[in-house]
Amino acid sequence: MDSLFTDLSARITDIIGNTDNSQDRKLQSICDVLKAEIPHYDWVGFYIVSQPRVLSLGPYAGEPTDHAEIPFGRGICGQVAESEETFVIQDVSTEDNYLSCSVDVKSEIVVPIFKDGEFVAQLDIDSHALVPFTDADTAFLEGICKSIGKLF
Ligand code: SME
Repeated sequence: MDSLFTDLSARITDIIGNTDNSQDRKLQSICDVLKAEIPHYDWVGFYIVSQPRVLSLGPYAGEPTDHAEIPFGRGICGQVAESEETFVIQDVSTEDNYLSCSVDVKSEIVVPIFKDGEFVAQLDIDSHALVPFTDADTAFLEGICKSIGKLF
């Protein structure tokens, strides 16, 4: 898995650096690559701070979701918007403040994205597996989110 993460980090650096593409195209490509290449990533998307204390759904790969807008504090995503820290939920059934997208989702990881130290967006990943995320996922995703912050 570590070499896969190394390879994907390089691919994502290339996507970010591609001057031909818009921010939306780049974010979409990142979602598509992560969902296609990592077996336990079943839904991959960005939520973006659109107005004060509201997250809006940005580019994503996977099934459509009802949660197009999420107020800060609501669900896993809204909690990360307030804490500004990565949140790993290995079993969503243990979390009360959770917004379900699909009964198939068993776990979730949300990583904040900063531009010049300000929280601007987050990367949200749902998995259909229980307890799928390791420290390597967290390190990989936090690493790419540092680079993705440059797109905002
Ligand atoms: N489960 C999230 C909502 C977003 S979906 O996963 C796409 C939450 O609890 O905030």
